[in-house]
Amino acid sequence: MKHISGNRYLRKQGNILYLDNIEVEKILKSSKTPLLVFLEARIRDNIRTFKSVAERIFKSPSVFYSFKANYLNDICKIIKSEGIGAELVSLPELHLALSLGFPTNKIIAGGPYLDNKFIEQCIINNIEEIVVHTIKDIERINEIAKNHNKIQNLCLRINSQKYDTKLGTKLLVQELKQIKLYQRKCTNIQFRTILSHYSTQMNNVNQFSKNAEILIDAFNKLYNYDVEIKNINFGGGFPEAAIMPKSQLELVFSRLHKILNDEGIEYEKIYFEPGRFLVGDAGIFITEIVNKTEDRWIFLNVGNNICPKFSRSSFRFYNASKIDHPHKYKTSIAGIIPTDQDVLAKNYFFNNDIEIGDKVLITNVGAYTLTFSNRFPYELPSILLVNGLKISKIFDPKRDHDFSLKPFPS
Ligand SMILES: Cc1ncc(COP(=O)(O)O)c(C=O)c1O
Repeated sequence: MKHISGNRYLRKQGNILYLDNIEVEKILKSSKTPLLVFLEARIRDNIRTFKSVAERIFKSPSVFYSFKANYLNDICKIIKSEGIGAELVSLPELHLALSLGFPTNKIIAGGPYLDNKFIEQCIINNIEEIVVHTIKDIERINEIAKNHNKIQNLCLRINSQKYDTKLGTKLLVQELKQIKLYQRKCTNIQFRTILSHYSTQMNNVNQFSKNAEILIDAFNKLYNYDVEIKNINFGGGFPEAAIMPKSQLELVFSRLHKILNDEGIEYEKIYFEPGRFLVGDAGIFITEIVNKTEDRWIFLNVGNNICPKFSRSSFRFYNASKIDHPHKYKTSIAGIIPTDQDVLAKNYFFNNDIEIGDKVLITNVGAYTLTFSNRFPYELPSILLVNGLKISKIFDPKRDHDFSLKPFPS
């Protein structure tokens, strides 16, 4: 059997295509397209790969799944069962993580928007760290922690200085002085960790090295202002596991480890916050060709409404109805939204003989597609979870209406 899209849970034998151990044809007997399928075994494999490589290279790495990559209940449940932590940016995510039973010492939460209720719930629930993007938020966190008689650990998001990013502190002299002052004055907070998330889809070791240099510089600057940081958080930014082989991950981690060692940085823990690497290649759309033109444009029954380019995913397209045909003929692929802008791919290598009704697989759709999907008025797809020979429907638009997160109960 041959693997497809670098994913061992996507296989073809002649013209038969399998998702895990199930024939796509069989799935389509009970469900209509468009259909989003998640491969449970692939998520588990990705987590185990990430964890094992990190544990081999670092003394005590902590891995926190970035919920925003895919916050479906059943996906986060799988993540939780593999024993890794959660990285959250919002109250609804906090509600989900707590209701799934993530241990609170394995949750870090925060971001550019920290409203009082979010801060308060993090503090009440003993969340391991609150991530602070803006120094002025520190006093507010301290006040709320004081009201609850708690001491809250903080993680400072450091500005990666990439282009003109506005996320995080640049640690200018004024800011360093302010942080030092807060350390003395705010007795209900404790600076523990620094975080720099450099970019997305980083497949080049040098991008990770740059991130390490930013963190080392921040570590030293804070040290010079008597702020002793214990943990280093490298954020996420890893490509889909199908795109970043284990050997490349090893190379990245080894380089990061070496840079920290060479610079003599004494840290307690290393954190990573992968999102895409864990779930990106575990999601596959099964779609259908609904129209075609003479000049090799095909139109699918999904578009950027649910499969958005904004997700920055490594989409790959296969004609599932003719999977044994060579895919070497340039074809452009349009989506379902009635605008010329809904282009999914241009001049993509596809099979020659295209027919309306052919089923088309889009791979690597597991991360950020649902997150960045919009409300264009089409019916949402059903979502299935496949594991071995088992299929469960984890989202049914008729039953569930919407996959948005529930608000935090007041
Ligand atoms: C702070 C932080 N951590 C982790 C992530 C997850 O990134 P990825 O899914 O690319 O690994 C993001 C994504 O934007 C982020 O901003």
